[in-house]
Amino acid sequence: MISLRSVSKVYAGDATGNVLAVDSLSIEVERGETLVLLGASGCGKTTTLKMINRLVEPSAGEIHINGRNIADLDPVSLRRSIGYVFQGVGLFPHWSVAANIGAIPALLDWPRARVAARVDELLEMIGLPPAEYRERRPHELSGGQQQRVGVARALAAEAKVLLMDEPFGAVDPITRDGLQQEIDQMRRQLELTIVMVTHDVTEALLLADRVGVMDAGQLLQIGPPAEIFARPASELVARLLEMPRRQTDRLHALAHPDAPQEETDL
Ligand SMILES: Nc1ncnc2c1ncn2[C@@H]1O[C@H](COP(=O)(O)OP(=O)(O)O)[C@@H](O)[C@H]1O
Ligand SMILES: [Mg+2]
Repeated sequence: MISLRSVSKVYAGDATGNVLAVDSLSIEVERGETLVLLGASGCGKTTTLKMINRLVEPSAGEIHINGRNIADLDPVSLRRSIGYVFQGVGLFPHWSVAANIGAIPALLDWPRARVAARVDELLEMIGLPPAEYRERRPHELSGGQQQRVGVARALAAEAKVLLMDEPFGAVDPITRDGLQQEIDQMRRQLELTIVMVTHDVTEALLLADRVGVMDAGQLLQIGPPAEIFARPASELVARLLEMPRRQTDRLHALAHPDAPQEETDL
């Protein structure tokens, strides 16, 4: 459904030279799939996402969505047809929750009543009672609520493709867990195709149908979480998984104090 074909991005640099942010990346995302791109800060995750909705133009390679080269599509209508959850939420601070969620439908000239109904429907879906939350400003919401509104905004125009950039970055672990479960439900219900990027290994392993591990603009390994976890293809991928693996072992030891302990270096 989404096909990245040897896509590269070079940013024109300053005196220190150009930056090869994405280096000949090829990925196929299937309809209904959640693909999570995982990697350290600066490895090219945001650039990759932004090329899929043409907020950034590739320096080389092609991206096809539903069989069409997106370079041939109008970038503005392309962007309005793809849900995008920004890194760091990015709600319009002076707009009400309703105006934020309804922004794209309004740009698409939906009749007012339809926009209002859609906003209420989404508020219900994300667990914020419309009567109470519709007119609030973003600063009158908790971090987790803001993230929810960010997701609702991305879904407002009934996009079937959702791009999410570190969508749970700004929330505490408990809220994060709840949000992750909601996204998981929502994507099944709405049959969404999701490309999400994160530096959080546990999040990637829990949410993804497939995880793509990135480093320095390249794809190191791609596969189902269980496979990545069981058979990391390189030293770098193995090292990335060490931390969640150790946490899992420690939690397991806490939950089963009488079980024989594995040797660890803790
Ligand atoms: N607009 C830009 N101009 C120049 N360099 C950029 C720009 N955006 C990102 N970069 C550089 O490209 C690389 C990848 O950045 P990014 O895609 O934001 O990575 P990530 O989202 O994984 O942290 C980094 O080295 C970053 O500094
Ligand atoms: Mg980023």
